[in-house]
Amino acid sequence: MLRVDNLSAYYGDSQILHGVSLAVPDGGRIAVVGRNGAGKTTLFKSIMNAGPRTKGNVSWQGTELGSMPSYKRVRRGLALVPEDRRIFGHVTVRENIAMSRYGAAPGQTPLDPDQVIERFPMLVPIRDRPGGQLSGGQQQMVAVARAIAARPKLMMLDEPTEGLAPVIVEQLARDVVSACKETGAGLLLSEQNLWFARQCTDRLYIIDTGRIVFEGDWQSLDANDDIKHRYLAV
Ligand SMILES: Nc1ncnc2c1ncn2[C@@H]1O[C@H](COP(=O)(O)OP(=O)(O)OP(=O)(O)O)[C@@H](O)[C@H]1O
Ligand SMILES: [Mg+2]
Repeated sequence: MLRVDNLSAYYGDSQILHGVSLAVPDGGRIAVVGRNGAGKTTLFKSIMNAGPRTKGNVSWQGTELGSMPSYKRVRRGLALVPEDRRIFGHVTVRENIAMSRYGAAPGQTPLDPDQVIERFPMLVPIRDRPGGQLSGGQQQMVAVARAIAARPKLMMLDEPTEGLAPVIVEQLARDVVSACKETGAGLLLSEQNLWFARQCTDRLYIIDTGRIVFEGDWQSLDANDDIKHRYLAV
């Protein structure tokens, strides 16, 4: 279980997150949705101790993470796929995915890159192509595949659908859900695409100007037009 309790985050003197609390049960799939600048990326970076200064608690599997550095959080089973994907341009798709061995927990064998590629149909024909020659959608698939290959217990995807064509978004939703189900990984997803978030998760939090303003399942969001209009502009 990931637990975020009363988390505040700061860049310099400006406070970005204001007492955010949320939880992701083991194997659960949860979305954090909110507009541009709401604080989604800051929240994910704070969970990984990868940038912002924070107050409050992040605990994982019953242990408070405190000031534990990012790489140790990764080795405990937390995997972040950042907004900008960070694909290595000069090595192939297969080699990018093989890099996941550096994020696997000690003593845990990462998944075989070719087996992972089979789970992502879009990657099969391009497994030998250099990362620098991929489209945005292909890069996103590689980033997700690389994260899954390390066998994380919780995969955090930061706005994976940004800039992707609708057909790719549909394929990505299928692949993300099946990869999580097959490996038992949980998912914490940041999104503005409500269709995609709904395909991938059971529950959501809405974040607005660094505060959680709604928490519930998708049915309860549907029943709450006021919240949708106010925070999601739909
Ligand atoms: N490195 C930084 N230094 C100072 N302020 C920052 C920094 N990164 C983000 N911010 C500010 O923090 C706020 C939240 O930004 P954040 O990137 O977390 O939002 P987001 O919800 O991920 O938005 P988007 O959907 O556009 O990715 C914004 O007002 C942004 O300008
Ligand atoms: Mg962001």
